[in-house]
Amino acid sequence: MPGVYSSSMIIIHALLLLVLIPLAAAQPWTNCGRGQGNYSAGSTYETNLLDLLLGTLCHNASSSPTLFAKGSLGAAPDTAWALILCRGDVSAKMCYECVTWAGHYAATACNRSRDVALCCDQCYVRLADHNFFDPNGNAGVVSSLSALGITNGDVVGYDWALTGLFSSTVKYAVDNSSRMFAMGYSAETEPGIYSAAQCAADLSRPQCRNCLQGLMGMWRTTFLRNTRGARLAGP
Ligand SMILES: *[C@@H]1O[C@H](CO)[C@@H](O)[C@H](O)[C@H]1NC(C)=O
Ligand SMILES: *[C@@H]1O[C@H](CO)[C@@H](O)[C@H](O)[C@H]1NC(C)=O
Ligand SMILES: *[C@@H]1O[C@H](CO)[C@@H](O)[C@H](O)[C@H]1NC(C)=O
Ligand SMILES: *[C@@H]1O[C@H](CO)[C@@H](O)[C@H](O)[C@H]1NC(C)=O
Repeated sequence: MPGVYSSSMIIIHALLLLVLIPLAAAQPWTNCGRGQGNYSAGSTYETNLLDLLLGTLCHNASSSPTLFAKGSLGAAPDTAWALILCRGDVSAKMCYECVTWAGHYAATACNRSRDVALCCDQCYVRLADHNFFDPNGNAGVVSSLSALGITNGDVVGYDWALTGLFSSTVKYAVDNSSRMFAMGYSAETEPGIYSAAQCAADLSRPQCRNCLQGLMGMWRTTFLRNTRGARLAGP
């Protein structure tokens, strides 16, 4: 089995997991809108979301031991919901900077869509006008491909190594990490494979395991088997 290390040098997010090789694509990655429409500049919803809720949550997440915060604010129909999570190995300062930037960038990146998910290297942000906090669901996953096919041609060997690496990374995150976060490395292939997995702190460990296993299944239907670098992040 590949070794799994709790500290190293890779990436991660909300209920996400990924394999990656040096990132080719530019961050951040977004999932804009799910049929909820758009809000206008200066609206009550925008004030609730960006000025009031996001500011508190960015502060709360970066000062929390789990680097996670979620909440809602405002009266219907202008209630805003947000969830933010920083990668398990970043500093409080980097966490604060990432979520503050990402939260505000999400509004422009998605033309003020009323449901936005955004994934950066150091954090994940989801903002919406409805309650999406579902410990057993993961609608609105952000997927991103950062590197195309492997170059040594051994897809079967690669897929085998990847499956083992995913499994041990998820196991470590669920069973051994206070932040439900793990990074791993497999030397079964040449070059090796890096991995990371993390759950948000509002999940129980069994829910975390289910979520990450769900994403592993989604990985198979989202990316080609020879994918060299990619990630999935959900709420
Ligand atoms: C932020 O943290 C404070 C102190 O723990 C708490 O009272 C407040 O409800 C939190 N804010 C949100 C929006 O969750
Ligand atoms: C709302 O935002 C979405 C997501 O960016 C965009 O595709 C759509 O064109 C916008 N809708 C309107 C009516 O502007
Ligand atoms: C952005 O949203 C506004 C307001 O809904 C709309 O008028 C505009 O066409 C949208 N722009 C794009 C690029 O979707
Ligand atoms: C992970 O946790 C399990 C169960 O508590 C323990 O048996 C195992 O030794 C731990 N592994 C590591 C690498 O810490």
